Amino acid sequence: MGIAQMWETFRSVARFDTFETDPTRRRLRSVASVDDLRTLAKRRLPAGVFDYIDGGAEDERTLGTNSTHFSRLEFRPRVLRDVSALDTSTTIFGRPASMPVILSPTGFTRIAHSQGELAVTRAAGRAGIPWSLSTMGTRSIEECAEANPDGDKWFQIYTWKDRGLVRELVERARASGFSTVWLTVDTAVLGRRERDVRRGMTLPPKLGPRTLIDGAIHPAWTKDFLTAEPITFANIVGRHDDDGSTAISLAEHVASQFDQALSWDDIEWLRSFWDGPIVLKGIQTVADAKRAVAEGVEGIGLSNHGGRQLDDAPSPVTLIEPVRDEIGDTATIICDGGVRRGSDVVKALALGADAVSLGRPCFLALGAAGEPGVDWLLDFLREGIERTMALTGCASLAEIDRDLVRWIA
Ligand code: FNR
Repeated sequence: MGIAQMWETFRSVARFDTFETDPTRRRLRSVASVDDLRTLAKRRLPAGVFDYIDGGAEDERTLGTNSTHFSRLEFRPRVLRDVSALDTSTTIFGRPASMPVILSPTGFTRIAHSQGELAVTRAAGRAGIPWSLSTMGTRSIEECAEANPDGDKWFQIYTWKDRGLVRELVERARASGFSTVWLTVDTAVLGRRERDVRRGMTLPPKLGPRTLIDGAIHPAWTKDFLTAEPITFANIVGRHDDDGSTAISLAEHVASQFDQALSWDDIEWLRSFWDGPIVLKGIQTVADAKRAVAEGVEGIGLSNHGGRQLDDAPSPVTLIEPVRDEIGDTATIICDGGVRRGSDVVKALALGADAVSLGRPCFLALGAAGEPGVDWLLDFLREGIERTMALTGCASLAEIDRDLVRWIA
């Protein structure tokens, strides 16, 4: 065979890829799953930062089962159904969402990328899904509202001893157009996150030889960190005699301010100044879900804080069906924790959830590739939901029912 013939044969199979000049997009080309995003984030972020995001409480058993319990569900696919037009859209508390996915509140988001919550809220706005700001967020309520004026925005509160501050935050959130409040109820005290203990990780990180070396071997993160304005808890800065420059003492102070006396009576207190939907974030038993409905809350957030609080807490996915059976259609059920693929979303819906919520995938996407990373994640989830719907014979979310999945050993 002559050279010319060989060249012809080669050309018949080869397709030349265009060179991607943008380094972030180039990195994302080799990402195929949330696991890959995690690997990329692990490479780019200092170890202490990665472990703060990725880690869980104690032996991390709940962190593990939150995800692995999804793999105990098998589909019962239906064939020969017209899936030529797929519709992933839904409504959550009466507001349209392009898919049944919410971005969970996470504290100290700017540690992954200087844009922090602004990048995430913009991406959520583009994707047409609700996004949540944590009380411990690092961008203010007002700047986030400006970055995503038309999107559905939720605000998460911890209930502190300083009730006036909580009320003030909620009122600012309302004034900025936030629609829904998550009240986190699984954080009477902070869980013991042993990766952070081992690394001596504090928020913000304390400088020492270890952190300096960690920073030096992650130059892209370090450059971004050092060239941006200092990270503060943007919504509570200026309170507690603290100007934000000593945010570490503020972090400790805030943790010490969690009100361990928080009780069911406080739902009424919250209701006295917030008339929008309330979601209790951290419901972990059927009995508490029933009580929450009796107290009049609109949303049940089945969650164990992503396995960061009580180890050996039940995984949210195993609670969906019993809770739905108990409460019927009296409240919206959100499964928060362990969701890593579109197929997980479909499984949660089949068991009776109205929507799912994700924390780490988004935080890691931000660390791996900034705002384009979050866009990538939301596209990946949408495609995954659509593909699963097509392969299981569901053209719309209404067709996803309990018969679609079964538990396996
Ligand atoms: C969280 N989460 C959380 N929840 C909350 O109510 N307020 C907060 O400030 C935070 N902060 C926070 C930081 C980090 C780094 C993580 C990973 C998580 C919990 C979060 O909202 C959500 O419940 C879990 O992340 C869901 O589990 P997955 O999706 O991470 O598996």
